[in-house]
Amino acid sequence: MGIQILGTGRYVPEQIVTNDDLSKYVETNDEWIRTRTGIAQRHISGWEPTWYMGLKAAEKAIEKAGINAEDIGIVIGCTISSDFHTPAMANIIQGKLGAVNALSFDLNAACSGFVYAVDTARRFLETDENMKYAIVVASENLSRVVDFNDRNTCILFGDGAAAAVISKSDTLYSSYLGSDGSIANVLFARSVNTNEKFAVESDFNDGFEGNNMHAIYQNGKEVYKFAVKALPHAFEKSAEKIGISADEIDLFVPHQANLRILETAAKNLGVSMDKFFVSLDKFGNTSSASIPIALDIALEENKIKNGDKICLVGFGAGLTSASIIMEF
Ligand code: UT7
Repeated sequence: MGIQILGTGRYVPEQIVTNDDLSKYVETNDEWIRTRTGIAQRHISGWEPTWYMGLKAAEKAIEKAGINAEDIGIVIGCTISSDFHTPAMANIIQGKLGAVNALSFDLNAACSGFVYAVDTARRFLETDENMKYAIVVASENLSRVVDFNDRNTCILFGDGAAAAVISKSDTLYSSYLGSDGSIANVLFARSVNTNEKFAVESDFNDGFEGNNMHAIYQNGKEVYKFAVKALPHAFEKSAEKIGISADEIDLFVPHQANLRILETAAKNLGVSMDKFFVSLDKFGNTSSASIPIALDIALEENKIKNGDKICLVGFGAGLTSASIIMEF
Protein backbone atom coordinates (compact mmCIF):
# COMPACT_ATOMS: atom_id res chain seq x y z
CA MET A 1 0.00 0.00 0.00
CA GLY A 2 1.23 3.46 -0.90
CA ILE A 3 0.19 6.88 0.30
CA GLN A 4 -0.95 10.10 -1.20
CA ILE A 5 0.01 13.45 0.31
CA LEU A 6 -3.23 15.40 -0.04
CA GLY A 7 -2.01 18.71 1.34
CA THR A 8 0.93 20.32 3.10
CA GLY A 9 1.34 23.54 5.06
CA ARG A 10 4.07 25.40 6.93
CA TYR A 11 4.45 28.08 9.56
CA VAL A 12 7.67 29.82 10.45
CA PRO A 13 8.05 32.55 13.09
CA GLU A 14 8.03 36.12 11.79
CA GLN A 15 11.38 36.99 13.34
CA ILE A 16 14.36 36.49 11.01
CA VAL A 17 17.87 36.24 12.44
CA THR A 18 20.66 36.68 9.89
CA ASN A 19 24.24 35.46 10.14
CA ASP A 20 25.28 39.05 10.80
CA ASP A 21 22.79 39.22 13.68
CA LEU A 22 24.40 36.13 15.25
CA SER A 23 27.84 37.67 14.97
CA LYS A 24 26.70 40.11 17.71
CA TYR A 25 26.45 37.19 20.17
CA VAL A 26 29.30 34.88 19.17
CA GLU A 27 32.56 35.27 17.26
CA THR A 28 31.45 34.27 13.80
CA ASN A 29 30.74 35.87 10.46
CA ASP A 30 28.44 35.55 7.47
CA GLU A 31 31.18 34.22 5.21
CA TRP A 32 32.15 31.34 7.59
CA ILE A 33 28.55 30.28 8.08
CA ARG A 34 27.65 30.44 4.38
CA THR A 35 30.71 28.57 3.17
CA ARG A 36 30.60 25.86 5.87
CA THR A 37 26.84 25.33 5.92
CA GLY A 38 25.01 27.23 3.15
CA ILE A 39 22.80 28.93 5.75
CA ALA A 40 22.12 32.67 5.36
CA GLN A 41 19.35 33.20 7.91
CA ARG A 42 16.89 31.36 10.15
CA HIS A 43 13.48 32.13 11.68
CA ILE A 44 13.49 32.28 15.48
CA SER A 45 10.35 32.25 17.59
CA GLY A 46 9.85 35.30 19.75
CA TRP A 47 6.62 34.18 21.37
CA GLU A 48 5.24 31.27 19.38
CA PRO A 49 4.77 28.02 21.33
CA THR A 50 5.81 24.82 19.51
CA TRP A 51 2.23 23.52 19.41
CA TYR A 52 1.00 26.85 17.99
CA MET A 53 3.38 26.73 15.02
CA GLY A 54 2.36 23.11 14.44
CA LEU A 55 -1.33 24.00 14.62
CA LYS A 56 -0.98 26.81 12.06
CA ALA A 57 0.88 24.46 9.69
CA ALA A 58 -1.72 21.72 10.23
CA GLU A 59 -4.62 24.10 9.52
CA LYS A 60 -3.04 25.05 6.19
CA ALA A 61 -2.39 21.40 5.27
CA ILE A 62 -6.01 20.47 6.07
CA GLU A 63 -7.32 23.40 4.05
CA LYS A 64 -5.18 22.43 1.05
CA ALA A 65 -6.22 18.79 1.37
CA GLY A 66 -9.86 19.90 1.39
CA ILE A 67 -10.87 17.48 4.16
CA ASN A 68 -12.75 17.82 7.44
CA ALA A 69 -10.79 17.56 10.69
CA GLU A 70 -13.38 15.06 12.02
CA ASP A 71 -12.33 12.63 9.28
CA ILE A 72 -8.74 12.45 10.53
CA GLY A 73 -8.00 9.14 12.27
CA ILE A 74 -4.51 9.86 13.59
CA VAL A 75 -2.41 12.90 14.47
CA ILE A 76 1.31 12.23 14.84
CA GLY A 77 3.42 15.05 16.22
CA CYS A 78 7.18 15.16 15.68
CA THR A 79 9.26 17.33 17.96
CA ILE A 80 12.32 17.40 20.17
CA SER A 81 11.34 20.80 21.56
CA SER A 82 7.82 20.43 22.87
CA ASP A 83 6.27 22.98 25.24
CA PHE A 84 5.34 20.20 27.67
CA HIS A 85 6.81 16.91 28.92
CA THR A 86 3.19 15.84 28.87
CA PRO A 87 0.69 16.09 27.17
CA ALA A 88 2.12 15.37 23.74
CA MET A 89 2.17 18.26 21.27
CA ALA A 90 -0.08 16.11 19.05
CA ASN A 91 -2.75 15.93 21.80
CA ILE A 92 -2.95 19.73 21.96
CA ILE A 93 -3.05 20.09 18.18
CA GLN A 94 -5.71 17.36 17.87
CA GLY A 95 -7.89 19.25 20.35
CA LYS A 96 -7.44 22.66 18.70
CA LEU A 97 -8.09 21.20 15.23
CA GLY A 98 -11.29 19.54 16.38
CA ALA A 99 -9.99 16.20 15.10
CA VAL A 100 -12.39 14.53 17.52
CA ASN A 101 -12.10 11.05 16.02
CA ALA A 102 -8.31 10.89 15.98
CA LEU A 103 -5.81 9.16 18.22
CA SER A 104 -2.73 11.29 18.77
CA PHE A 105 0.81 10.97 20.02
CA ASP A 106 4.29 12.41 19.52
CA LEU A 107 7.18 10.59 17.96
CA ASN A 108 10.78 11.61 18.63
CA ALA A 109 13.25 10.55 15.98
CA ALA A 110 14.90 13.99 15.88
CA CYS A 111 15.67 15.19 12.35
CA SER A 112 14.44 11.88 10.88
CA GLY A 113 11.14 12.37 12.73
CA PHE A 114 8.94 13.39 9.81
CA VAL A 115 10.00 10.42 7.69
CA TYR A 116 9.56 8.06 10.66
CA ALA A 117 6.11 9.55 11.31
CA VAL A 118 4.86 9.40 7.72
CA ASP A 119 5.90 5.75 7.57
CA THR A 120 4.21 5.09 10.93
CA ALA A 121 1.04 6.82 9.71
CA ARG A 122 1.07 4.63 6.61
CA ARG A 123 1.18 1.50 8.79
CA PHE A 124 -1.86 2.73 10.79
CA LEU A 125 -3.74 3.50 7.58
CA GLU A 126 -2.89 0.07 6.23
CA THR A 127 -4.00 -1.88 9.30
CA ASP A 128 -7.12 0.10 10.19
CA GLU A 129 -9.58 -0.01 7.34
CA ASN A 130 -11.81 2.61 8.98
CA MET A 131 -9.01 5.16 9.10
CA LYS A 132 -9.31 7.61 6.19
CA TYR A 133 -6.74 10.31 6.83
CA ALA A 134 -3.62 10.84 8.89
CA ILE A 135 -1.89 14.11 9.63
CA VAL A 136 1.79 14.37 10.52
CA VAL A 137 2.79 17.64 12.19
CA ALA A 138 6.45 18.48 12.74
CA SER A 139 7.20 21.54 14.84
CA GLU A 140 10.43 22.71 16.42
CA ASN A 141 11.46 25.53 18.73
CA LEU A 142 15.14 24.69 18.59
CA SER A 143 16.10 28.19 19.77
CA ARG A 144 14.95 26.99 23.21
CA VAL A 145 17.47 24.17 23.29
CA VAL A 146 20.35 26.04 21.65
CA ASP A 147 23.07 27.83 23.59
CA PHE A 148 23.48 31.19 21.85
CA ASN A 149 26.99 31.44 23.36
CA ASP A 150 28.12 28.30 21.50
CA ARG A 151 29.16 29.19 17.96
CA ASN A 152 29.57 25.53 17.05
CA THR A 153 25.83 24.96 17.25
CA CYS A 154 23.85 28.21 17.45
CA ILE A 155 24.50 29.14 13.83
CA LEU A 156 22.99 25.89 12.55
CA PHE A 157 19.46 25.78 13.89
CA GLY A 158 16.15 27.53 13.31
CA ASP A 159 12.49 27.30 14.35
CA GLY A 160 9.46 26.34 12.30
CA ALA A 161 6.75 23.83 11.56
CA ALA A 162 5.14 21.96 8.70
CA ALA A 163 2.42 19.35 8.30
CA ALA A 164 1.11 16.86 5.76
CA VAL A 165 -2.30 15.21 5.35
CA ILE A 166 -1.98 11.65 4.13
CA SER A 167 -4.37 9.06 2.74
CA LYS A 168 -4.02 5.51 1.40
CA SER A 169 -3.34 4.93 -2.26
CA ASP A 170 -2.14 2.17 -4.54
CA THR A 171 0.89 4.11 -5.73
CA LEU A 172 4.54 3.06 -5.47
CA TYR A 173 5.96 3.16 -1.94
CA SER A 174 9.01 1.94 -0.07
CA SER A 175 10.69 2.94 3.16
CA TYR A 176 13.67 2.34 5.38
CA LEU A 177 13.96 3.41 9.03
CA GLY A 178 17.35 3.00 10.69
CA SER A 179 18.97 3.72 14.02
CA ASP A 180 22.40 3.43 15.63
CA GLY A 181 22.07 4.22 19.33
CA SER A 182 25.67 3.17 19.98
CA ILE A 183 26.77 6.62 18.80
CA ALA A 184 23.87 8.60 20.30
CA ASN A 185 26.30 10.64 22.40
CA VAL A 186 27.60 12.71 19.45
CA LEU A 187 24.38 14.74 19.21
CA PHE A 188 22.09 15.30 22.17
CA ALA A 189 20.38 17.67 24.60
CA ARG A 190 19.77 16.46 28.14
CA SER A 191 16.38 16.45 29.79
CA VAL A 192 15.61 17.46 33.42
CA ASN A 193 17.94 16.70 36.32
CA THR A 194 17.29 14.22 39.11
CA ASN A 195 15.07 15.87 41.70
CA GLU A 196 17.42 17.67 44.13
CA LYS A 197 15.60 16.26 47.16
CA PHE A 198 16.48 12.70 46.20
CA ALA A 199 19.84 13.27 44.54
CA VAL A 200 22.47 10.72 45.58
CA GLU A 201 26.20 11.18 44.96
CA SER A 202 27.41 8.77 42.31
CA ASP A 203 30.23 8.34 39.85
CA PHE A 204 27.80 6.91 37.29
CA ASN A 205 28.83 7.84 33.79
CA ASP A 206 26.19 7.59 31.08
CA GLY A 207 28.67 8.13 28.27
CA PHE A 208 27.24 11.51 27.38
CA GLU A 209 29.32 14.62 27.92
CA GLY A 210 28.53 17.00 30.85
CA ASN A 211 25.72 16.56 33.35
CA ASN A 212 24.25 19.96 32.63
CA MET A 213 24.20 19.81 28.86
CA HIS A 214 20.59 20.90 28.45
CA ALA A 215 21.42 22.81 25.28
CA ILE A 216 22.21 20.91 22.09
CA TYR A 217 25.68 19.34 22.18
CA GLN A 218 27.12 18.22 18.88
CA ASN A 219 30.37 16.70 17.76
CA GLY A 220 30.06 18.33 14.33
CA LYS A 221 32.74 16.26 12.62
CA GLU A 222 31.31 12.90 13.79
CA VAL A 223 27.77 13.89 12.80
CA TYR A 224 29.07 15.11 9.45
CA LYS A 225 30.83 11.79 8.78
CA PHE A 226 27.66 9.89 9.72
CA ALA A 227 25.39 12.12 7.63
CA VAL A 228 27.24 11.87 4.32
CA LYS A 229 27.02 8.06 4.52
CA ALA A 230 23.61 7.73 6.22
CA LEU A 231 21.72 9.72 3.61
CA PRO A 232 22.75 7.62 0.57
CA HIS A 233 22.54 4.42 2.67
CA ALA A 234 18.95 5.14 3.77
CA PHE A 235 17.94 5.88 0.17
CA GLU A 236 19.61 2.72 -1.13
CA LYS A 237 17.97 0.51 1.52
CA SER A 238 14.52 1.79 0.54
CA ALA A 239 15.35 1.70 -3.19
CA GLU A 240 16.58 -1.89 -3.28
CA LYS A 241 13.22 -3.11 -1.94
CA ILE A 242 11.49 -1.89 -5.10
CA GLY A 243 14.38 -2.14 -7.55
CA ILE A 244 14.67 1.56 -8.30
CA SER A 245 17.84 3.56 -8.92
CA ALA A 246 18.73 7.09 -7.85
CA ASP A 247 18.49 8.48 -11.38
CA GLU A 248 14.85 7.33 -11.56
CA ILE A 249 14.00 9.66 -8.66
CA ASP A 250 12.62 12.99 -9.89
CA LEU A 251 13.29 14.91 -6.69
CA PHE A 252 15.04 14.24 -3.39
CA VAL A 253 13.67 16.27 -0.47
CA PRO A 254 16.40 15.74 2.11
CA HIS A 255 16.86 16.87 5.71
CA GLN A 256 18.18 20.42 5.51
CA ALA A 257 21.24 20.45 7.77
CA ASN A 258 24.18 21.54 5.69
CA LEU A 259 24.61 22.21 1.97
CA ARG A 260 28.01 20.48 1.95
CA ILE A 261 26.42 17.30 3.34
CA LEU A 262 23.81 17.38 0.56
CA GLU A 263 26.44 17.99 -2.13
CA THR A 264 28.54 15.05 -0.91
CA ALA A 265 25.48 12.81 -0.62
CA ALA A 266 24.34 13.72 -4.14
CA LYS A 267 27.82 12.93 -5.42
CA ASN A 268 27.84 9.58 -3.58
CA LEU A 269 24.49 8.74 -5.16
CA GLY A 270 25.70 9.82 -8.60
CA VAL A 271 22.91 12.38 -9.10
CA SER A 272 23.11 16.07 -9.87
CA MET A 273 22.39 18.64 -7.16
CA ASP A 274 19.45 19.83 -9.32
CA LYS A 275 17.63 16.76 -8.00
CA PHE A 276 18.15 17.83 -4.38
CA PHE A 277 15.66 20.40 -3.14
CA VAL A 278 17.39 22.95 -0.90
CA SER A 279 15.74 25.46 1.43
CA LEU A 280 18.25 25.55 4.29
CA ASP A 281 19.64 28.92 3.21
CA LYS A 282 16.46 30.60 4.51
CA PHE A 283 15.54 28.41 7.48
CA GLY A 284 18.68 26.70 8.78
CA ASN A 285 18.26 23.26 10.32
CA THR A 286 14.74 22.97 11.77
CA SER A 287 15.17 19.29 12.72
CA SER A 288 11.98 17.27 12.11
CA ALA A 289 10.30 20.26 10.41
CA SER A 290 13.00 20.66 7.78
CA ILE A 291 11.81 18.00 5.32
CA PRO A 292 8.12 18.99 5.37
CA ILE A 293 8.98 22.71 5.14
CA ALA A 294 11.11 21.92 2.06
CA LEU A 295 8.36 19.67 0.66
CA ASP A 296 5.73 22.39 1.11
CA ILE A 297 7.91 24.92 -0.72
CA ALA A 298 8.78 22.43 -3.49
CA LEU A 299 5.04 21.83 -4.06
CA GLU A 300 4.30 25.56 -3.97
CA GLU A 301 7.02 26.13 -6.60
CA ASN A 302 5.60 23.32 -8.77
CA LYS A 303 8.85 21.35 -8.49
CA ILE A 304 6.81 18.15 -8.08
CA LYS A 305 4.34 16.96 -10.73
CA ASN A 306 1.72 14.22 -10.64
CA GLY A 307 3.37 10.86 -11.18
CA ASP A 308 6.82 12.05 -10.04
CA LYS A 309 8.82 9.71 -7.86
CA ILE A 310 10.22 11.52 -4.86
CA CYS A 311 12.44 10.56 -1.97
CA LEU A 312 12.11 12.06 1.51
CA VAL A 313 15.36 11.30 3.29
CA GLY A 314 16.63 12.32 6.70
CA PHE A 315 19.28 11.70 9.35
CA GLY A 316 19.83 13.06 12.82
CA ALA A 317 20.15 12.52 16.54
CA GLY A 318 19.68 8.97 17.72
CA LEU A 319 21.56 8.58 15.49
CA THR A 320 18.68 7.90 13.14
CA SER A 321 18.24 7.81 9.41
CA ALA A 322 15.16 7.28 7.27
CA SER A 323 13.96 7.29 3.69
CA ILE A 324 10.62 7.11 1.92
CA ILE A 325 10.29 6.67 -1.83
CA MET A 326 6.82 7.50 -3.07
CA GLU A 327 4.94 8.43 -6.19
CA PHE A 328 3.06 11.70 -6.29
O1 UT7 B 1 20.41 17.61 12.15
C1 UT7 B 1 21.63 17.59 12.85
C2 UT7 B 1 22.66 17.31 11.91
N1 UT7 B 1 23.86 18.07 12.19
C3 UT7 B 1 24.67 18.31 11.20
O2 UT7 B 1 24.40 17.98 10.08
C4 UT7 B 1 25.99 18.98 11.51
C5 UT7 B 1 27.11 18.24 10.86
N2 UT7 B 1 28.36 18.96 10.99
C6 UT7 B 1 28.61 20.08 10.31
O3 UT7 B 1 27.77 20.52 9.54
C7 UT7 B 1 29.96 20.72 10.45
O4 UT7 B 1 30.80 19.88 11.21
C8 UT7 B 1 29.89 22.13 11.11
C9 UT7 B 1 29.22 23.11 10.16
C10 UT7 B 1 29.11 22.06 12.41
C11 UT7 B 1 31.31 22.63 11.38
O5 UT7 B 1 32.05 22.67 10.18
P1 UT7 B 1 33.54 22.09 10.15
O6 UT7 B 1 34.06 22.33 8.79
O7 UT7 B 1 33.49 20.68 10.63
O8 UT7 B 1 34.27 23.06 11.15
P2 UT7 B 1 35.12 22.67 12.43
O9 UT7 B 1 34.22 22.21 13.53
O10 UT7 B 1 36.25 21.77 12.02
O11 UT7 B 1 35.72 24.05 12.82
C12 UT7 B 1 36.73 24.68 12.02
C13 UT7 B 1 37.13 25.96 12.71
C14 UT7 B 1 37.48 25.76 14.18
O12 UT7 B 1 38.54 26.61 14.49
P3 UT7 B 1 40.04 26.03 14.67
O13 UT7 B 1 39.91 25.04 15.78
O14 UT7 B 1 40.35 25.39 13.36
O15 UT7 B 1 40.82 27.24 14.99
C15 UT7 B 1 36.24 26.23 14.90
O16 UT7 B 1 36.52 26.70 16.20
O17 UT7 B 1 36.07 26.89 12.68
C16 UT7 B 1 35.77 27.34 14.01
N3 UT7 B 1 34.35 27.60 14.13
C17 UT7 B 1 33.78 28.76 13.75
N4 UT7 B 1 34.30 29.88 13.24
C18 UT7 B 1 33.46 30.88 12.95
C19 UT7 B 1 33.38 26.76 14.56
N5 UT7 B 1 32.19 27.38 14.49
C20 UT7 B 1 32.40 28.61 13.99
C21 UT7 B 1 31.58 29.69 13.68
N6 UT7 B 1 32.14 30.80 13.15
N7 UT7 B 1 30.26 29.65 13.86
